[in-house]
Amino acid sequence: ASYAIGVDLGATKIAAALVSRDGRVVAEKRVPTEPALGEEAVIGRMATLVQELSQEASGPLAGVGIGTPGYVNSAAGIVQNAVNLGWQEVPLAQRLQAALPMHLDIWVENDANVQALGEYYFGAARGCDHFVFIGIGSGLGSGIISRGALITGATYMAAEMGHLSLDPEGRQCACGLRGCVETVVSGPGIVASVQKYLAQGRPMGSRLAAGGPLTPERVLQAAQEGDPAARAAFAEAASWLGMVFAAYVAILNPAKIVIGGGLGLSGFDLLVPDAMGELRRRVGAQSLEALQVVRSQLSSSAVGASALVWAAAGQDGQR
Ligand code: BGC
Ligand code: NA
Ligand code: ZN
Repeated sequence: ASYAIGVDLGATKIAAALVSRDGRVVAEKRVPTEPALGEEAVIGRMATLVQELSQEASGPLAGVGIGTPGYVNSAAGIVQNAVNLGWQEVPLAQRLQAALPMHLDIWVENDANVQALGEYYFGAARGCDHFVFIGIGSGLGSGIISRGALITGATYMAAEMGHLSLDPEGRQCACGLRGCVETVVSGPGIVASVQKYLAQGRPMGSRLAAGGPLTPERVLQAAQEGDPAARAAFAEAASWLGMVFAAYVAILNPAKIVIGGGLGLSGFDLLVPDAMGELRRRVGAQSLEALQVVRSQLSSSAVGASALVWAAAGQDGQR
């Protein structure tokens, strides 16, 4: 059997796995990271993980696939701009290769794009060659597969829906714009919405003002228990998510929308039914006949990244 190493580079952790061609995780490792470490140290940590995992492959290693937030020139392996990492114009493929003692083929792609590939090869979109993946966590990312191919756009910024502004007068986003989708539909977005509702004192009766710092996890639990401010924050996020669904349905007529990311999965029941309601108000029923909105089925984001290796090598998803 042949193997690939998948690496999910995030702002707070690096997850890496040795994965077989059929998506089985042979070994998995993760280490913490933080933007303040700087590129050199982060790349050093990635190199250590890759080297350790490569020793566990009992067959040929086809290469390394890396998913990272931000805009990625995947042809050149360059992270052009990742606001969450504080990286600009980092030639990641080249620098990781330089930090390794042996040669490996290395591919780099946007994190949500590799998740989309992963769902196509191994997850919720097997056999479905026209779908969208949306990941909701500390940001909102998405990836488009059309006719079985990843759509990256003219300058690698396709599917950057997290930074589509739905309210140019809205909340400040790290990217410089205001009212981007991810200022409302993300962990930090949900927290900011709760803060807004608490400050305006409506809806009344929230218990979230007391009891320590607000985190996405606390807001999620409060929403599940019926807290009015937490509910309102999720309802607002769901309505915005529904507008994102509507945009995707109108442009692409996808067969599936696959939802992933930490908050996307844990908050699925609070977000998706209401988002579907918003979607039905915005597009005609005919474009929804074939649409399924489903949960991600990948055991780890590193598995998604491993699919990048097979896709880059021109190997099709399994049907
Ligand atoms: C970035 C995307 C990324 C998403 C999830 C957004 O802020 O712009 O590139 O896919 O976060 O990490
Ligand atoms: Na993307
Ligand atoms: Zn933005």
